[in-house]
Amino acid sequence: MIDTHLHILPSLDDGVRDFEEAITLARQLVQVGYTQVIATPHVLGGKSFLSPEIIRKSVEQLNKILREQEIPLEVLPGAEIYLFPQLPRYVKEGRILTLGGQGKYLLVELPVLSLPHYVEKVFFELQVAGYHPVLAHPERYSYIMNDRALLEHWAGSGVLYQLNLRSLSGRYGSGPKEVALWLLKHHMISLVGTDTHHPSLENEPFLRELALLGDSLGEDGKDILMQRNPRAVLTQGAIQRTEFQGEFIRTKSRGKGNSGKKRWRLNFF
Ligand SMILES: [Fe+2]
Repeated sequence: MIDTHLHILPSLDDGVRDFEEAITLARQLVQVGYTQVIATPHVLGGKSFLSPEIIRKSVEQLNKILREQEIPLEVLPGAEIYLFPQLPRYVKEGRILTLGGQGKYLLVELPVLSLPHYVEKVFFELQVAGYHPVLAHPERYSYIMNDRALLEHWAGSGVLYQLNLRSLSGRYGSGPKEVALWLLKHHMISLVGTDTHHPSLENEPFLRELALLGDSLGEDGKDILMQRNPRAVLTQGAIQRTEFQGEFIRTKSRGKGNSGKKRWRLNFF
């Protein structure tokens, strides 16, 4: 599998702090089946701008250590760009890394609390310049969560969506989980990222979420999101759609010891 979103480069952002943490995280990702990851440190416009050179250098250093320690994970350069009005100009000037440092897919994120007025203009200008904006975790923005028409509108205009894997298990609450399932159901998810910032306390993280993804889309659909579409992003191939097979519904457990406790189960239809 290929992870298209994580913060594995030491001390470049709020992700892993040092190479030791990066190595622990790399081992955990290998353990659950990842072979390649696209490192996507947060990139902001203005004074705290993180250049492609700094990111590429850090990727090189990490890959060298991973090879030395015989950890079979390849790290590719990328960025999670906090959308700013001058982004199209930065991109044209070669100052922004696309996903994998090759191709035309740009991972962007939006502010947590409110929608900036220039978002659609930036999406449009990027597309006119031949780039594909990929919006990270659309299910997690409170102002989008309640605006399904906006999600449909952007998807219709060619913006791609990348799901945060942890949203599937309700890690960010029931709202993001519900939107995540709605997006999957309406074939709007093209990529999935772990968006992991630190090594997990579990030795094998994401297994539950990967199983839920398989339950929702079938093994073929899961393969599209975890393998084929990331590969297409790196090789300029075609992005494929997935077919939805089931959804999670809220239910109450029965029996003693579980009285009234809510859990999630999978419902096929
Ligand atoms: Fe992120």
